[in-house]
Amino acid sequence: MSSDLNQKIYVAGHRGMVGSAIVRNLQVKGFTKIVTRTHAELDLTNQAQVKAFFEQEKPDQVYLAAAKVGGIYANNTFPAEFIYQNLMIEANVIHQAFEAGVKKLLFIGSSCIYPKMASQPMAENALLTGTLEPTNEPYAIAKIAGIKLCESYNRQYGQSHGIDYRSVMPTNLYGPGDDYHPENSHVIPALIRRFHEAKLANAPKVLIWGTGTPKREFLYVDDMATASIFVMDLAKEIYDQHTKPMQSHINVGYGEDVTIADLAHAVAKVTSYSGKIGFDNSNPDGAPRKWMDSGRLNRLGWKARVDLESGLKLAYRDFVKTYSEKSLS
Ligand SMILES: NC(=O)c1ccc[n+]([C@@H]2O[C@H](COP(=O)([O-])OP(=O)(O)OC[C@H]3O[C@@H](n4cnc5c(N)ncnc54)[C@H](OP(=O)(O)O)[C@@H]3O)[C@@H](O)[C@H]2O)c1
Repeated sequence: MSSDLNQKIYVAGHRGMVGSAIVRNLQVKGFTKIVTRTHAELDLTNQAQVKAFFEQEKPDQVYLAAAKVGGIYANNTFPAEFIYQNLMIEANVIHQAFEAGVKKLLFIGSSCIYPKMASQPMAENALLTGTLEPTNEPYAIAKIAGIKLCESYNRQYGQSHGIDYRSVMPTNLYGPGDDYHPENSHVIPALIRRFHEAKLANAPKVLIWGTGTPKREFLYVDDMATASIFVMDLAKEIYDQHTKPMQSHINVGYGEDVTIADLAHAVAKVTSYSGKIGFDNSNPDGAPRKWMDSGRLNRLGWKARVDLESGLKLAYRDFVKTYSEKSLS
Protein backbone atom coordinates (compact mmCIF):
# COMPACT_ATOMS: atom_id res chain seq x y z
CA MET A 1 0.00 0.00 0.00
CA SER A 2 1.31 3.44 -0.88
CA SER A 3 0.66 6.11 1.71
CA ASP A 4 2.61 9.08 0.42
CA LEU A 5 0.84 11.81 2.34
CA ASN A 6 2.36 14.42 0.03
CA GLN A 7 0.25 13.29 -2.91
CA LYS A 8 -1.92 16.07 -4.31
CA ILE A 9 -5.40 14.59 -4.54
CA TYR A 10 -8.38 15.97 -6.46
CA VAL A 11 -11.74 14.75 -5.14
CA ALA A 12 -14.40 15.49 -7.77
CA GLY A 13 -17.84 15.85 -6.18
CA HIS A 14 -16.52 16.69 -2.69
CA ARG A 15 -19.85 18.19 -1.59
CA GLY A 16 -21.74 15.00 -2.38
CA MET A 17 -22.35 12.15 0.04
CA VAL A 18 -19.54 9.95 -1.28
CA GLY A 19 -17.07 12.72 -2.15
CA SER A 20 -17.39 14.35 1.27
CA ALA A 21 -16.83 10.97 2.97
CA ILE A 22 -13.70 10.41 0.86
CA VAL A 23 -12.36 13.85 1.85
CA ARG A 24 -13.11 13.15 5.56
CA ASN A 25 -11.33 9.82 5.41
CA LEU A 26 -8.33 11.14 3.45
CA GLN A 27 -7.94 13.85 6.11
CA VAL A 28 -8.12 11.26 8.90
CA LYS A 29 -5.33 9.34 7.16
CA GLY A 30 -3.19 12.50 7.11
CA PHE A 31 -3.49 13.62 3.49
CA THR A 32 -3.37 17.41 3.44
CA LYS A 33 -3.03 18.34 -0.23
CA ILE A 34 -6.66 17.83 -1.17
CA VAL A 35 -7.94 19.87 -4.10
CA THR A 36 -11.67 20.54 -4.52
CA ARG A 37 -13.98 22.66 -6.66
CA THR A 38 -17.69 23.22 -6.25
CA HIS A 39 -20.03 22.60 -9.17
CA ALA A 40 -20.42 26.38 -9.50
CA GLU A 41 -16.64 26.84 -9.71
CA LEU A 42 -16.05 24.01 -12.17
CA ASP A 43 -18.73 22.42 -14.34
CA LEU A 44 -17.32 18.99 -15.11
CA THR A 45 -19.52 18.64 -18.21
CA ASN A 46 -17.58 21.59 -19.70
CA GLN A 47 -14.51 20.30 -21.52
CA ALA A 48 -12.66 23.65 -21.65
CA GLN A 49 -13.14 24.28 -17.92
CA VAL A 50 -11.98 20.77 -17.01
CA LYS A 51 -8.93 21.09 -19.26
CA ALA A 52 -7.96 24.43 -17.70
CA PHE A 53 -8.45 23.05 -14.20
CA PHE A 54 -6.19 20.03 -14.74
CA GLU A 55 -3.54 22.14 -16.48
CA GLN A 56 -3.50 24.48 -13.50
CA GLU A 57 -3.67 21.97 -10.63
CA LYS A 58 -1.91 18.87 -12.05
CA PRO A 59 -2.96 16.55 -9.22
CA ASP A 60 -1.22 13.22 -8.56
CA GLN A 61 -4.46 11.32 -7.92
CA VAL A 62 -8.14 11.76 -8.75
CA TYR A 63 -11.21 10.32 -7.01
CA LEU A 64 -14.12 10.70 -9.44
CA ALA A 65 -17.17 10.92 -7.15
CA ALA A 66 -19.02 13.62 -9.10
CA ALA A 67 -22.08 12.43 -10.97
CA LYS A 68 -25.69 13.21 -11.64
CA VAL A 69 -27.36 10.87 -9.15
CA GLY A 70 -30.98 10.13 -8.26
CA GLY A 71 -33.63 7.55 -7.45
CA ILE A 72 -36.04 5.73 -9.78
CA TYR A 73 -38.33 8.72 -10.23
CA ALA A 74 -35.52 11.08 -11.25
CA ASN A 75 -33.87 8.48 -13.52
CA ASN A 76 -37.17 7.76 -15.24
CA THR A 77 -38.13 11.41 -15.64
CA PHE A 78 -34.79 12.87 -16.76
CA PRO A 79 -33.06 10.04 -18.71
CA ALA A 80 -31.36 12.42 -21.15
CA GLU A 81 -29.79 14.45 -18.33
CA PHE A 82 -28.59 11.26 -16.61
CA ILE A 83 -26.84 9.78 -19.64
CA TYR A 84 -25.50 13.05 -21.08
CA GLN A 85 -24.14 14.60 -17.91
CA ASN A 86 -22.56 11.41 -16.60
CA LEU A 87 -20.89 10.58 -19.92
CA MET A 88 -19.55 14.13 -20.19
CA ILE A 89 -18.24 14.22 -16.60
CA GLU A 90 -16.42 10.90 -17.02
CA ALA A 91 -15.02 11.60 -20.47
CA ASN A 92 -13.81 15.07 -19.49
CA VAL A 93 -12.29 14.12 -16.15
CA ILE A 94 -10.61 10.90 -17.30
CA HIS A 95 -9.26 12.35 -20.55
CA GLN A 96 -8.06 15.64 -19.08
CA ALA A 97 -6.52 13.82 -16.10
CA PHE A 98 -4.60 11.71 -18.60
CA GLU A 99 -3.55 14.80 -20.60
CA ALA A 100 -2.30 16.46 -17.42
CA GLY A 101 -0.17 13.43 -16.49
CA VAL A 102 -2.33 12.07 -13.64
CA LYS A 103 -1.09 8.55 -12.94
CA LYS A 104 -3.79 7.30 -10.56
CA LEU A 105 -7.54 7.72 -10.81
CA LEU A 106 -10.46 5.96 -9.12
CA PHE A 107 -13.80 5.99 -10.89
CA ILE A 108 -16.88 5.44 -8.72
CA GLY A 109 -19.70 3.58 -10.42
CA SER A 110 -22.70 1.72 -9.08
CA SER A 111 -24.22 -1.75 -8.77
CA CYS A 112 -26.83 -0.77 -11.40
CA ILE A 113 -24.24 -1.68 -14.06
CA TYR A 114 -25.25 -5.33 -13.62
CA PRO A 115 -28.01 -7.01 -15.65
CA LYS A 116 -31.50 -6.99 -14.20
CA MET A 117 -31.56 -10.79 -13.95
CA ALA A 118 -27.94 -11.25 -12.80
CA SER A 119 -27.49 -14.25 -10.53
CA GLN A 120 -27.08 -13.39 -6.86
CA PRO A 121 -24.75 -12.38 -5.38
CA MET A 122 -23.66 -10.28 -8.37
CA ALA A 123 -19.99 -10.84 -9.18
CA GLU A 124 -17.80 -8.59 -11.29
CA ASN A 125 -17.98 -11.00 -14.24
CA ALA A 126 -21.76 -10.45 -14.54
CA LEU A 127 -21.02 -7.15 -16.33
CA LEU A 128 -22.39 -7.05 -19.90
CA THR A 129 -23.96 -10.49 -19.67
CA GLY A 130 -27.59 -9.38 -19.98
CA THR A 131 -30.25 -6.69 -20.28
CA LEU A 132 -30.17 -3.83 -17.79
CA GLU A 133 -33.02 -2.58 -15.59
CA PRO A 134 -34.89 -0.23 -17.98
CA THR A 135 -35.68 2.52 -15.43
CA ASN A 136 -32.03 3.45 -14.96
CA GLU A 137 -30.50 2.02 -18.13
CA PRO A 138 -29.19 5.40 -19.41
CA TYR A 139 -27.42 6.03 -16.09
CA ALA A 140 -26.06 2.46 -16.01
CA ILE A 141 -24.76 2.73 -19.58
CA ALA A 142 -22.87 5.89 -18.59
CA LYS A 143 -21.40 4.10 -15.57
CA ILE A 144 -20.32 1.15 -17.74
CA ALA A 145 -18.71 3.66 -20.10
CA GLY A 146 -16.76 5.04 -17.12
CA ILE A 147 -15.32 1.60 -16.37
CA LYS A 148 -14.46 1.10 -20.03
CA LEU A 149 -12.83 4.53 -20.26
CA CYS A 150 -10.50 3.62 -17.39
CA GLU A 151 -9.73 0.21 -18.89
CA SER A 152 -9.14 1.57 -22.38
CA TYR A 153 -6.76 4.29 -21.18
CA ASN A 154 -4.88 1.66 -19.14
CA ARG A 155 -4.67 -0.67 -22.12
CA GLN A 156 -3.48 1.99 -24.54
CA TYR A 157 -1.35 4.17 -22.26
CA GLY A 158 -0.67 2.06 -19.16
CA GLN A 159 2.83 1.02 -20.18
CA SER A 160 3.84 4.07 -22.19
CA HIS A 161 2.58 6.66 -19.66
CA GLY A 162 2.54 4.66 -16.43
CA ILE A 163 -1.13 5.34 -15.76
CA ASP A 164 -3.29 3.15 -13.54
CA TYR A 165 -7.02 4.01 -13.56
CA ARG A 166 -9.30 1.85 -11.42
CA SER A 167 -13.03 1.49 -10.74
CA VAL A 168 -15.17 0.57 -7.76
CA MET A 169 -18.87 -0.36 -7.88
CA PRO A 170 -20.64 0.23 -4.58
CA THR A 171 -23.97 -1.19 -3.48
CA ASN A 172 -26.68 1.18 -2.09
CA LEU A 173 -25.05 3.76 0.15
CA TYR A 174 -26.39 5.84 3.01
CA GLY A 175 -25.06 8.19 5.66
CA PRO A 176 -24.21 11.84 6.32
CA GLY A 177 -24.85 14.11 3.35
CA ASP A 178 -27.58 11.92 1.86
CA ASP A 179 -30.38 13.43 -0.24
CA TYR A 180 -33.72 13.49 1.62
CA HIS A 181 -35.77 14.95 -1.21
CA PRO A 182 -39.21 13.26 -1.18
CA GLU A 183 -39.15 12.34 -4.88
CA ASN A 184 -35.45 11.97 -5.71
CA SER A 185 -34.19 10.07 -2.69
CA HIS A 186 -33.13 6.44 -2.26
CA VAL A 187 -34.79 4.00 0.13
CA ILE A 188 -32.95 4.68 3.41
CA PRO A 189 -33.14 8.51 3.32
CA ALA A 190 -36.77 8.24 2.18
CA LEU A 191 -37.62 5.96 5.13
CA ILE A 192 -35.71 8.14 7.62
CA ARG A 193 -37.67 11.16 6.51
CA ARG A 194 -41.04 9.37 6.47
CA PHE A 195 -40.64 7.87 9.95
CA HIS A 196 -39.30 11.12 11.37
CA GLU A 197 -42.25 13.08 9.97
CA ALA A 198 -44.71 10.39 11.11
CA LYS A 199 -43.28 10.62 14.64
CA LEU A 200 -43.62 14.42 14.69
CA ALA A 201 -47.21 14.18 13.38
CA ASN A 202 -48.13 11.33 15.80
CA ALA A 203 -49.27 9.36 12.76
CA PRO A 204 -50.67 5.96 13.84
CA LYS A 205 -49.31 4.10 10.80
CA VAL A 206 -46.65 4.35 8.11
CA LEU A 207 -47.43 2.59 4.85
CA ILE A 208 -44.42 1.22 2.94
CA TRP A 209 -44.46 0.78 -0.86
CA GLY A 210 -44.56 -2.93 -1.89
CA THR A 211 -44.69 -6.18 0.08
CA GLY A 212 -41.57 -5.55 2.17
CA THR A 213 -40.12 -8.90 1.07
CA PRO A 214 -37.45 -7.80 -1.47
CA LYS A 215 -33.92 -7.90 -0.10
CA ARG A 216 -31.39 -5.13 -0.56
CA GLU A 217 -27.83 -4.47 0.59
CA PHE A 218 -26.76 -1.20 2.22
CA LEU A 219 -23.30 0.16 2.99
CA TYR A 220 -22.49 3.08 5.27
CA VAL A 221 -20.78 5.78 3.23
CA ASP A 222 -17.63 6.01 5.37
CA ASP A 223 -17.07 2.31 4.72
CA MET A 224 -17.36 3.15 1.01
CA ALA A 225 -14.75 5.88 1.47
CA THR A 226 -12.28 3.58 3.25
CA ALA A 227 -12.82 0.99 0.50
CA SER A 228 -12.13 3.61 -2.17
CA ILE A 229 -8.88 4.72 -0.53
CA PHE A 230 -7.93 1.08 0.02
CA VAL A 231 -8.42 0.25 -3.67
CA MET A 232 -6.64 3.42 -4.82
CA ASP A 233 -3.62 2.58 -2.62
CA LEU A 234 -3.31 -1.12 -3.53
CA ALA A 235 0.01 -1.99 -5.13
CA LYS A 236 -0.37 -2.35 -8.91
CA GLU A 237 0.81 -5.95 -9.00
CA ILE A 238 -1.77 -6.92 -6.36
CA TYR A 239 -4.58 -5.06 -8.19
CA ASP A 240 -3.53 -6.68 -11.45
CA GLN A 241 -3.48 -10.16 -9.89
CA HIS A 242 -7.13 -9.79 -8.86
CA THR A 243 -8.49 -8.09 -12.01
CA LYS A 244 -8.26 -8.41 -15.79
CA PRO A 245 -7.46 -5.61 -18.25
CA MET A 246 -11.04 -5.75 -19.60
CA GLN A 247 -12.75 -6.61 -16.33
CA SER A 248 -10.99 -4.44 -13.83
CA HIS A 249 -13.75 -3.07 -11.58
CA ILE A 250 -14.17 -4.10 -7.95
CA ASN A 251 -17.47 -4.49 -6.08
CA VAL A 252 -17.90 -2.75 -2.73
CA GLY A 253 -20.67 -4.21 -0.58
CA TYR A 254 -21.55 -4.76 3.05
CA GLY A 255 -21.68 -8.53 2.58
CA GLU A 256 -25.24 -9.12 3.81
CA ASP A 257 -28.64 -7.92 2.67
CA VAL A 258 -31.92 -7.28 4.54
CA THR A 259 -35.60 -7.32 3.61
CA ILE A 260 -37.26 -3.96 3.13
CA ALA A 261 -39.59 -4.92 6.01
CA ASP A 262 -36.64 -5.47 8.38
CA LEU A 263 -35.08 -2.23 7.18
CA ALA A 264 -38.33 -0.33 7.84
CA HIS A 265 -38.47 -1.72 11.38
CA ALA A 266 -34.82 -0.78 11.94
CA VAL A 267 -35.45 2.80 10.75
CA ALA A 268 -38.59 3.04 12.92
CA LYS A 269 -36.51 1.99 15.94
CA VAL A 270 -33.71 4.46 15.25
CA THR A 271 -36.15 7.35 14.69
CA SER A 272 -38.20 6.31 17.80
CA TYR A 273 -41.39 5.97 15.77
CA SER A 274 -43.81 3.87 17.82
CA GLY A 275 -46.79 3.57 15.44
CA LYS A 276 -47.63 0.67 13.14
CA ILE A 277 -45.89 -0.25 9.89
CA GLY A 278 -48.00 -1.47 6.97
CA PHE A 279 -47.17 -2.62 3.43
CA ASP A 280 -49.00 -1.52 0.31
CA ASN A 281 -49.05 -4.69 -1.78
CA SER A 282 -50.67 -2.92 -4.72
CA ASN A 283 -47.33 -1.29 -5.59
CA PRO A 284 -44.68 -3.21 -7.56
CA ASP A 285 -41.74 -4.64 -5.65
CA GLY A 286 -38.86 -4.50 -8.13
CA ALA A 287 -36.19 -7.22 -8.18
CA PRO A 288 -36.57 -9.79 -5.37
CA ARG A 289 -32.92 -9.48 -4.41
CA LYS A 290 -29.93 -7.24 -5.18
CA TRP A 291 -26.82 -8.36 -3.44
CA MET A 292 -23.18 -7.79 -4.43
CA ASP A 293 -20.47 -10.42 -4.35
CA SER A 294 -17.70 -8.51 -2.54
CA GLY A 295 -15.39 -11.53 -2.36
CA ARG A 296 -12.77 -9.93 -4.58
CA LEU A 297 -12.39 -6.92 -2.27
CA ASN A 298 -12.58 -9.07 0.87
CA ARG A 299 -9.81 -11.33 -0.43
CA LEU A 300 -7.71 -8.21 -1.04
CA GLY A 301 -8.08 -7.45 2.68
CA TRP A 302 -10.99 -4.97 3.09
CA LYS A 303 -14.20 -5.53 5.01
CA ALA A 304 -17.10 -3.24 5.96
CA ARG A 305 -17.06 -2.13 9.60
CA VAL A 306 -20.29 -0.22 10.25
CA ASP A 307 -23.32 -2.47 10.85
CA LEU A 308 -26.78 -1.36 9.72
CA GLU A 309 -28.10 -0.30 13.12
CA SER A 310 -25.00 1.78 13.97
CA GLY A 311 -25.01 3.30 10.48
CA LEU A 312 -28.71 4.19 10.68
CA LYS A 313 -28.12 5.92 14.04
CA LEU A 314 -25.32 8.01 12.54
CA ALA A 315 -27.39 8.81 9.44
CA TYR A 316 -30.41 9.81 11.54
CA ARG A 317 -28.27 12.05 13.73
CA ASP A 318 -27.03 13.80 10.59
CA PHE A 319 -30.59 14.08 9.21
CA VAL A 320 -31.84 15.72 12.41
CA LYS A 321 -28.86 18.08 12.58
CA THR A 322 -29.09 19.09 8.93
CA TYR A 323 -32.82 19.38 8.64
CA SER A 324 -34.13 20.37 12.06
CA GLU A 325 -33.88 24.05 11.30
CA LYS A 326 -34.80 23.86 7.63
CA SER A 327 -38.28 23.45 6.26
CA LEU A 328 -38.72 19.85 5.08
CA SER A 329 -40.00 20.72 1.63
N1 LIG B 1 -25.80 7.31 -3.17
C1 LIG B 1 -25.77 6.01 -3.42
O1 LIG B 1 -26.53 5.22 -2.85
C2 LIG B 1 -24.79 5.47 -4.42
C3 LIG B 1 -24.79 4.09 -4.62
C4 LIG B 1 -23.91 3.55 -5.54
C5 LIG B 1 -23.06 4.39 -6.22
N2 LIG B 1 -23.06 5.72 -6.01
C6 LIG B 1 -22.15 6.53 -6.81
O2 LIG B 1 -21.35 7.38 -6.01
C7 LIG B 1 -21.06 8.57 -6.72
C8 LIG B 1 -21.40 9.78 -5.86
O3 LIG B 1 -22.75 9.68 -5.46
P1 LIG B 1 -23.36 10.56 -4.27
O4 LIG B 1 -24.43 9.75 -3.65
O5 LIG B 1 -22.25 11.11 -3.45
O6 LIG B 1 -24.05 11.71 -5.12
P2 LIG B 1 -24.29 13.23 -4.69
O7 LIG B 1 -24.44 13.34 -3.22
O8 LIG B 1 -25.39 13.72 -5.56
O9 LIG B 1 -22.93 13.93 -5.11
C9 LIG B 1 -22.56 14.13 -6.43
C10 LIG B 1 -21.74 15.39 -6.51
O10 LIG B 1 -21.36 15.60 -7.86
C11 LIG B 1 -21.51 16.97 -8.14
N3 LIG B 1 -21.77 17.19 -9.55
C12 LIG B 1 -22.79 16.72 -10.29
N4 LIG B 1 -22.70 17.18 -11.54
C13 LIG B 1 -21.59 17.98 -11.60
C14 LIG B 1 -20.99 18.75 -12.60
N5 LIG B 1 -21.50 18.80 -13.86
N6 LIG B 1 -19.88 19.47 -12.31
C15 LIG B 1 -19.37 19.43 -11.06
N7 LIG B 1 -19.89 18.71 -10.05
C16 LIG B 1 -21.00 18.00 -10.33
C17 LIG B 1 -22.72 17.39 -7.33
O11 LIG B 1 -22.73 18.79 -7.15
P3 LIG B 1 -24.15 19.55 -7.17
O12 LIG B 1 -24.99 18.88 -6.14
O13 LIG B 1 -23.78 20.96 -6.86
O14 LIG B 1 -24.70 19.35 -8.56
C18 LIG B 1 -22.49 16.64 -6.04
O15 LIG B 1 -21.68 17.34 -5.15
C19 LIG B 1 -21.87 8.52 -8.01
O16 LIG B 1 -21.04 8.13 -9.06
C20 LIG B 1 -22.88 7.44 -7.75
O17 LIG B 1 -23.22 6.74 -8.91
C21 LIG B 1 -23.91 6.29 -5.12
